[in-house]
Amino acid sequence: MQEHKSTGRRTALVTGASQGIGEAIAVALARDGFDVAVSSTRPEKLAGVLAQIEAAGGRAVPVALDVRSQSNIEQAMAAVIDALGHLDVLVNNAGVPLRKSALEVTAAEWDTVIGTNLTGAFFMSQQMGRHLIGSGRPGCIISIASTHGVLGVAQRSTYGISKAAMIHMTRMLAIEWAQHGIRVNAIAPGRVDTPSRAGSYSDPKYIESMLNRVPLHRFGTSDEVAAAACYLASPEAAYITGQTLFLDGGLTAY
Ligand SMILES: NC(=O)c1ccc[n+]([C@@H]2O[C@H](COP(=O)([O-])OP(=O)(O)OC[C@H]3O[C@@H](n4cnc5c(N)ncnc54)[C@H](OP(=O)(O)O)[C@@H]3O)[C@@H](O)[C@H]2O)c1
Repeated sequence: MQEHKSTGRRTALVTGASQGIGEAIAVALARDGFDVAVSSTRPEKLAGVLAQIEAAGGRAVPVALDVRSQSNIEQAMAAVIDALGHLDVLVNNAGVPLRKSALEVTAAEWDTVIGTNLTGAFFMSQQMGRHLIGSGRPGCIISIASTHGVLGVAQRSTYGISKAAMIHMTRMLAIEWAQHGIRVNAIAPGRVDTPSRAGSYSDPKYIESMLNRVPLHRFGTSDEVAAAACYLASPEAAYITGQTLFLDGGLTAY
């Protein structure tokens, strides 16, 4: 991967980096030598991750971004490219969960989940593809999918459908953009203990029923997802594209 002309450093944008997996990925990329732009719908939430990126030696750029808005995506991408000079890596991490019976899902909930997890990731990728192809540089897109994208799970239909489509989007964009040196991959974590999932951990029976399905009998960590993202963004992964890496303690190995 080429380096940013003015600083000699590689550059990345991580969406939804105010907390959880996105925050861990942003900090890990900074430790790997990236300057990192981080987004939130509420930029005031980014103070913590900005400080960690800078402590790791990276330049940190905050950006306000709601991936459900096409105009906001275009503005945010332009602002990030202007600030960093160029973008090498996009991490589509922004996402929302929904645990609800298929019989009860409303049109508004469907629109929020699909609009954030799938449509947002697609149009972010489109902007990244236009940027890389327009500048004639190689680059890399990594999307955070989920094991729910391949496993049948009750109460998770809308979320699982969004992640299944994200996994297929990964293949489609990888094929279309390989000729431009753009690699497109996904990471599909199983359960990771992050703030948005904390509510699911209050019921010991629910926790045990989930753990019993995981061969390694534990949940994943944000740092483990971040390490996988750093690998996929690295030159060592130069021959990997169109793939989804399952980071799930063996959950999908059955
Ligand atoms: N945790 C798990 O067990 C797990 C497992 C598999 C996959 N994943 C996936 O991993 C990703 C991160 O999960 P997480 O658990 O770290 O979630 P999280 O703690 O809830 O963080 C989600 C991030 O997404 C951002 N976001 C939400 N809606 C957005 C929108 N419309 N536009 C832009 N950003 C938006 C949030 O930003 P603000 O609130 O700051 O705006 C937040 O920073 C998600 O895609 C999730 O589906 C998680």
